[in-house]
Amino acid sequence: MVVYRASTTAPVNIAVVKYWGKRDPKLNLPTNSSLSVTLSQDDLRTLTTASCSETYTEDVLLLNGSPSDLTGARTQACLRELRALRAALEAKDASLPKLAQLKLLLVSENNFPTAAGLASSAAGFAAFVRAIADLYELPASPTELSLIARQGSGSACRSLFGGYVAWRAGAHVDGLDSKAVEVAPAAHWPNMRALILVASAAKKGVSSTSGMQQTVATSGLFQQRIAEVVPANMETMEAAIAARDFPKFAEVTMRDSNSFHATCADTYPPIFYMNDVSRAAVRAVEAINTAAGKTIAAYTFDAGPNAVIYYLEEDSETVLGTFYALLESTEGWKKGTNPKSSVQLDEAVSDS
Ligand code: DP6
Repeated sequence: MVVYRASTTAPVNIAVVKYWGKRDPKLNLPTNSSLSVTLSQDDLRTLTTASCSETYTEDVLLLNGSPSDLTGARTQACLRELRALRAALEAKDASLPKLAQLKLLLVSENNFPTAAGLASSAAGFAAFVRAIADLYELPASPTELSLIARQGSGSACRSLFGGYVAWRAGAHVDGLDSKAVEVAPAAHWPNMRALILVASAAKKGVSSTSGMQQTVATSGLFQQRIAEVVPANMETMEAAIAARDFPKFAEVTMRDSNSFHATCADTYPPIFYMNDVSRAAVRAVEAINTAAGKTIAAYTFDAGPNAVIYYLEEDSETVLGTFYALLESTEGWKKGTNPKSSVQLDEAVSDS
């Protein structure tokens, strides 16, 4: 029995200018561009092995050991595109094994809580798409694969790269220009660090997909966000990264997170992702920056209460020390939160 197999890992990315809103839910096209920082794979990543064989009778996904649904429209869109690309290769070269028609087994493991606002779908779909692309030996670049991963989960398109990554919203109705590009490699700003504060590892209340749909449908503030706030933030953020200007990077990161959560609060009925521990983290960052007399730490929150704090290596002692001391006095913190996960940023994603 021949089993064809390929494994890959994909990292988590945390947006500093957030994607929130779809202009086309079917093709998963966003209302705005976004920009993220890829975290180190040593700490947060999905490892996926894709295999196919004549003996397999159905497509199967095992996620952290449990059978998981593969029938969703977005997963199916990724599978369809990948199989079509493989079929095209096979049509051109008759010596290639006929893998496109075989059933797939996908075994995927996260080393962090799934769906707790830690961008698990981003790493998950990025690893899913690349493992199959590797199995099929597709000659596709990360940007080409980002067009496929985007259809699985928007933020996943950014996890095909390391470093600083923009997802250009694009303008075409077919979505062919809605893809991820590297803004700068991790080595461009090697002393950047991220601290993850796990305020709750529980599954989030309102999923990103339905949350953003409700926001687009009901929030007036959202219109201003996509028309003015995000375009300005993208421009300032890209300039801040190019210049390695941490205070600017930090200010835009915090303002964009605030803007995103404001549109959530402006959604009707309102959506609240941040909790008391999240708000304590915001205050802790403010206290750190005030005490330092300059901006040395930045917070950001996705669709959940967990905080990601960006800072520079040279400020580790001040940021981490102050953070732990301040948060120890907050109630949520004492009640069993598990924050001590400091994550280093890493170079590009790696295959195995
Ligand atoms: C708040 O990528 O999970 O993390 O495309 O519906 O799967 P879908 O949404 P998803 O949304 C991520 C939202 C965010 C911001 C971001 O990562 O840019």
